[in-house]
Order: sequence, then structure tokens, then C-alpha cells
Amino acid sequence: MTCIANKKTIVTPSILRLLFPILFIIVLVSLESCSNPNEHKSLEVESLKDAFEKDFYIGVALNGGIIDQSDSTSLNVVKKEFNSITAENIMKSAIIHPKLDSFNFEMADKFVALGKTNDMHIHGHTLIWHSQLSPWFQDIEDSLEFKSATENHIKDLALHFKGIVNSWDVVNEALNEDGTLRNSIFLKKMGADYLSLAFKWTSEIDPDAKLYYNDYNMTNPEKRQGAIRMVKKIQEQGIKVDGIGMQGHWHLNSPSLEEIEQSILEYSKLGVQVAITELDISVLPNPWDLEGAEISQNFENSEKMNPYTKGLPDSVQIQLANRYKDIFNIFLKHKDKISRVTFWGLGDGQSWLNGFPIRGRTNYPLLFDRNLKPKAAYYSIIGLKEKFDQLQTTN
Ligand code: XIL
Repeated sequence: MTCIANKKTIVTPSILRLLFPILFIIVLVSLESCSNPNEHKSLEVESLKDAFEKDFYIGVALNGGIIDQSDSTSLNVVKKEFNSITAENIMKSAIIHPKLDSFNFEMADKFVALGKTNDMHIHGHTLIWHSQLSPWFQDIEDSLEFKSATENHIKDLALHFKGIVNSWDVVNEALNEDGTLRNSIFLKKMGADYLSLAFKWTSEIDPDAKLYYNDYNMTNPEKRQGAIRMVKKIQEQGIKVDGIGMQGHWHLNSPSLEEIEQSILEYSKLGVQVAITELDISVLPNPWDLEGAEISQNFENSEKMNPYTKGLPDSVQIQLANRYKDIFNIFLKHKDKISRVTFWGLGDGQSWLNGFPIRGRTNYPLLFDRNLKPKAAYYSIIGLKEKFDQLQTTN
């Protein structure tokens, strides 16, 4: 004791060297016991949506089983925890508009009814996307015919859901990583004008719906600049864009918190709202990080790429909880710029990240586990919010 109090005379570098490992272990043990992922203090709020009620919508993507109510266990968790919904698949063109002259609104109508009954913000995903694209788009040779069919596609959907869908991903994933425009069928057939036209056509039918541009890797500086250029061009034509959707398919260590914050700030300077539209945080190795890695069969069942088949170690559970906490800290700091945070799925077992980018893995990216029990990450963001509010009231 005295030797630490009287540093000058007694603590020599050699004593410090001896003490360091002991102190290190003490700190580690105390950190571990503070953040045991299986111990949770009781919370003042009952759900995510209550916790963030005054900040932004808390949304979730719904799969078919939840929408058709066959998975009532999941549905009950959705109703309790979330106040916004997005359809994970059933509003994509291949499903909702399978043939040029026929729509398939059955599931989408169930989806919006569920949202209405439960007083939720309903987000439409998505009007224009090159992926999960209905085959008839590819079959139209003539450019003018293509343009008019695309206009009808947008307007028919916007009209069917007018006054019901509160916000739309009007265009999804139109950008390359370097910020140039993706050479999609829409760009090829209609030129860059398809972007402003898509926003114009949607707003003509449903002027009250909030219209978003949505994409992944929106924190990547080059892509971000491309998105900003694109939105400015649309705005310069007097056409409205209400928001930018950052998909939020993120990892434990990337993107950096600085990049996330910087992106929110830069997008909001466009005078639009920012939504985090498809949040999930993969805890698995990312094949794109491995140099020269090919996503091939070889990766599929390798232990290296799929290390947690028997459960997530506590240390990684804590890492995930801390990552969610750090990210939500930024969201709360900029809550005036953020309209909605939507998780891309309810429980880990339902996440598309079990199958992408490598099939057959066991991933743990969401707030609820495979039994739909809240994980440490769930408690970490609610705990953060409680601290945030306490700080606000004391300041
Ligand atoms: C994914 C769904 O989650 C999967 O079920 C489907 O097989 C493929 O699409 N960006 C998007 C989402 O905008 O629509 C994608 O959803 C994930 C990436």
C-alpha cells in the first residue's frame, strides 16, 4: 500500500514490471464480472420500442412465417418489441409482380394489415432493385417499353399501398463501391435518369410517403460520395428524396465508429433523414477480408469460416454486445437525424447471414438468440439508453 502512495521513493521500474501482470489480471477479472453476458440487471423499460420511443422507430424485417402468422412465437416477440416493420422478401418485384400483367399482393396485404393492426410504421422494400428482379424486366427489349413498364411497376405498387406504406426504399443498391452507378438493367435501358424518375413517379402517386435511397457499405467514403452526388442530382431537378437508408450489414470490427458517425453527418447535410435499414452484425470471419479468397465450396464447412457451431463463446457475446452499444451510442447522439433503426431479422436462427456469403454457417448477428431470448446485446443497448436518459436529466 505505502509503496504505491509514495511513488517517488519506493516504486521502481522493476517493481512496476512485477506488479503489472497482477494488476492486469485484476482488471480483466473485474471487467469480465461486470459484463457476464448471462447476467442482466432488471430493466426499467419493457421493450426496445418503449426504450427508444422518443428517439427513432425500432424496426424488424419479417419473414413469410411471421407475416402469415404461422410462427406465432416470433410474431408475439415482434409485437412486443418493435414499432416498425419491413418485409424481408415478399415486396420484391419477383414475388409481388411476377408477371408483367399480374401482381401477387396476398402476402404483402397480410404484411401491411399486421402493421396497421399493431399501429406500426410500415416500410416498403423495395420498388427498384436489380436483384430478386421479376423475369419480365429482362424480357423487354425495347427501351421505351421498358421505361413505361417500370413506371407502371412503381405507380401500381405505390397506388396499391398509398396511405398505408409510410416509407419506401424507392431504389435499392444502385451504386458500385467506387461511387459510380451500377450497370444494372435499369441503367442500361433508361440511363441515369431512371433514378430521378423513380423518385418522381413514386411521389406523384403517394406524396405523403417518405422516399429513401437504400444501399450497403454506405460508410465506405467513395460510395458515400457517390450516394451524395446521386441524391444532389435528384434534388436539383426539384424531385424529393426524404431519406438515405444505410443497410447496416456490419461486422464486429468494421466499419469504424468514426466512419458510421461521419456518414450519418454527411447524409443528413443533404437535408434528408438517415435510417439504418438492415442492421445485423456478423460475428463470423468475412471471406472478403481474406486476400485472394474465393467464396467457394471449400469454405463452406471449414471450421475456420464457421467456428461457433456449438454456441457463441461468452467473450464474443460480450464483444457483440459492446459493438451494438457503441453503435447505438452514435445513433442516440444523432437521434435528431435518424428516423428508424431496423434489424434485418428477429432471431439469430432466422438471419440470412447463416447463408450469406457462405452457405450453412451458424451466425449470431441479431438481438435475440435461436430461442428468441434477448441476448447480452439487447440488454446492452437498453442499458445504454437508460444511462443516456439519466445523463440528460442530470445535465
Ligand atoms: C435478403 C434476404 O434477407 C434473404 O432472405 C434473401 O434470400 C436475399 O435478400 N440487401 C437487401 C435485402 O436490400 O433485400 C437483402 O435481403 C439483403 C441485402
